[in-house]
Amino acid sequence: MSPERDGANPWTEGWEGEIATRWVALEDALDRALAPFGDAALARANPQPGERAIDVGCGCGATVLALAAAEGARGQVLGVDITPEMLARARERTAGLAQVELLQADAQTHVFGADHDLVFSRCGVMFFGDERAAFANLARALGPGGRLTFVCWRPFADNPWMNVAFSALRQVMPEVAPPPVEGPGPFAFADAGRTRELLAATGFGAIAVEAFDHPVSLGADLAAAVRMATGTGPTGRALPAADPPTRAPRVTVIRGSGARTLGKMAPASDRRQEKMLRLLRARQAPSR
Ligand SMILES: C[S@@+](CC[C@H](N)C(=O)[O-])C[C@H]1O[C@@H](n2cnc3c(N)ncnc32)[C@H](O)[C@@H]1O
Repeated sequence: MSPERDGANPWTEGWEGEIATRWVALEDALDRALAPFGDAALARANPQPGERAIDVGCGCGATVLALAAAEGARGQVLGVDITPEMLARARERTAGLAQVELLQADAQTHVFGADHDLVFSRCGVMFFGDERAAFANLARALGPGGRLTFVCWRPFADNPWMNVAFSALRQVMPEVAPPPVEGPGPFAFADAGRTRELLAATGFGAIAVEAFDHPVSLGADLAAAVRMATGTGPTGRALPAADPPTRAPRVTVIRGSGARTLGKMAPASDRRQEKMLRLLRARQAPSR
């Protein structure tokens, strides 16, 4: 895994290995930080008892559990992810739930049954190598009138929990380029107009895009906030490339430089920053 240099995009290089290990280690903190956004998306998706859902890029399984609870024993939830470490954790968490199936596959190309009611994702649809092929594939997984609901990031500049640490990182690693403004990457769908066009061109209609802001907690204290901000997102992507002896000093710089903002994102503060995501809903277009 190397940071983005000379136009290379680190987000196409996958989630396995150290990135996945860190994500799994931060699972509780990430689930707490992402829960308000995932819950808002789930409320819009409105999963019903007995429905069949796909959770794209399901990660460690938090939203698979929520979908399974909403759809009940008669429902079916297929959690799909490319990363074995994430799926192993999701398997542990969903053990005993007969309505859950977990699949290691690329959601861009996997041939799904065409009878699902809902395609859902909490921040798992922004990393496709070919976004058109991927969304056309997801549209084919839906039965007539089936719904797509996902939550994804608004622009990097609007997300301090990622950009504060990243700005500090660039003081010591100026060669690292900012994350791409179009996919694949966390900000692939930051542009609402472009995203609408993509969905309309790949078999979706009744497209609704909604901005959703909510305070975010990065952890119990500054140390936890620094762990989150340096272990995930664009900063987490760039740091594994640092030689191990230089990683710690770089984290120290980030901690020092970002302390004020990151400290505010710990729950002890009453002035937490907001994290801003875009909620997206669409229906499979009947004319597809
Ligand atoms: C930002 S994480 C979100 C994980 C989870 N949805 C959550 O909210 O905790 C993105 C996830 O998408 C998965 N992913 C990336 N590209 C994928 C693809 N083409 N097909 C399936 N999963 C993919 C990654 O392995 C990772 O688990």
